[in-house]
Amino acid sequence: MKTFIANLPKAELHLHIEGSFEPELMFKIAQRNQIKIPYNSVKEIEEAYKFNCLQDFLNIYYQGAGVLVTEQDFYDLTYSYLKKCADQHVRHTEIMFDPQTHTDRGIAFETVINGISKACDDAKKNLGVSSLLIMSYLRHLSEEEAFKTLKQSLPFKAKIKAVGLDSSEKGNPPSKFKNVFEASVKEGYIPLAHAGEEGAAAYVWEAIDILGIKRIDHGNNSLQDEILVQEIINRDIALTVCPLSNTALQVVDDLKNHPLKKMMDLGLKVTVNSDDPAYFGGQVNKNYEAIQEALNLSKYELFQLAKNSFQYSLLEENKKQWYLNELEVYYNNNK
Ligand code: ADE
Ligand code: ZN
Repeated sequence: MKTFIANLPKAELHLHIEGSFEPELMFKIAQRNQIKIPYNSVKEIEEAYKFNCLQDFLNIYYQGAGVLVTEQDFYDLTYSYLKKCADQHVRHTEIMFDPQTHTDRGIAFETVINGISKACDDAKKNLGVSSLLIMSYLRHLSEEEAFKTLKQSLPFKAKIKAVGLDSSEKGNPPSKFKNVFEASVKEGYIPLAHAGEEGAAAYVWEAIDILGIKRIDHGNNSLQDEILVQEIINRDIALTVCPLSNTALQVVDDLKNHPLKKMMDLGLKVTVNSDDPAYFGGQVNKNYEAIQEALNLSKYELFQLAKNSFQYSLLEENKKQWYLNELEVYYNNNK
């Protein structure tokens, strides 16, 4: 199974680039920029990465992102993740970035987007990994702040495919961002959002009805509402599920109780992703391995998950087909 997963062609659809920041690289960049971080060793970092909930994690995640200053920093962060993609047979990835985490510290939007997108261009050329970018608004900030970010993004519109919504979910419902999502869609961005990670099913309703999102990040709590589940299926909206994130943030107590298989059996379109791999104990293949083992998933089910990852990506139809054909051949030769 491990080899089957390792070589399975796949896409990753839920990845925060700031969450891919491995301790070794964080130390290196902090030193380069002469910024102090409150850890002296990788061991101390591992100790700090124990979370009771989403907010616990976010506090540490924003602190880590605080050492990123130059375009080279954003380039190095992104290229390091993309190399891991190549090693794991991730053919395509849809990368979220949080501009406000950086612009609020005085880093120019341009610095962030140029560093990230240059790394993506180089990875396409040198590693054969394709990618696109999702600009995520921080939901603990105001809609007005999100509008500022939208405006800053417009000169770089060609580099950004979609908008997302992340950060502290509870108390920050999707409806808070109705106007900025409407404006983002007018600018040509595809709307996506985290919903139902810690928030209730009602937040998922808002995300699909009010924001009109095309894909749900997490969506676990959709299962609280049968009518919602049916609606998600009818609208053919996929869920980007992140097993190791869910246990790390105590959204799920044990992977054996993870709802992924139930979701699949209900007819929901599910994908497997790493979310913030540097913080949650594993890259995308580790997520596939862990959930396969916990739920005893078959090769056919793993194939379905990988198939969904291409099918529900934001790629053009002909590119999806190309990847799906490669996947089909792989499955037929290795089932
Ligand atoms: N930002 C980074 N990871 C996140 C997560 N799992 N949920 C919400 N916001 C995030
Ligand atoms: Zn996420």
